[in-house]
Amino acid sequence: MKFGFQSMQISAIVIALIIFMSPTLSLAQNAGVESPNVPAELNLNKMLYGKFCSSCHGVDLKGTKQGPPFLHRVYHPGHHADGAFFLAAKNGTRAHHWKFGNMPPVPGTNDGIVASIVKYVRYVQKQAGIF
Ligand code: HEC
Repeated sequence: MKFGFQSMQISAIVIALIIFMSPTLSLAQNAGVESPNVPAELNLNKMLYGKFCSSCHGVDLKGTKQGPPFLHRVYHPGHHADGAFFLAAKNGTRAHHWKFGNMPPVPGTNDGIVASIVKYVRYVQKQAGIF
């Protein structure tokens, strides 16, 4: 009797956990990505990066056919300071380091959004040892 009650409690906990986790799971699935794990406080930053930059720079910051990786020493803060990110999003940038072509300006971004994105990029770079 006591055992039955306990296992009911356990299944209730498991069900509660599944319900609790499912929005997170489906969000990750919507993004359709395997992006780096980041602390919860960087979730918004990661989302903004995903929305505005990942199509070219890669969900994992490792680049795509359209754009270079940020996990590269070229984008080390000592080489490309944060200011380069604001300028690139606002004005685009001419191809000079790579052969992907020019980066067009990114519509819908502003300094606040880019600041948030830079914070995310710097975090992932640091995790990857590019700092
Ligand atoms: C349409 C594709 C595309 C998108 C979207 C894109 N980029 Fe780029 N980006 C590029 C390419 C291509 C380059 C490489 C240019 C070169 O050859 O140096 C680049 C280079 C950069 C550079 C280096 C600039 C420099 O001074 O050398 C920064 C910083 C950058 N991107 C930031 C961003 C940020 C932040 C976002 C999102 C807000 C973003 N990019 C979105 C294609 C893109």
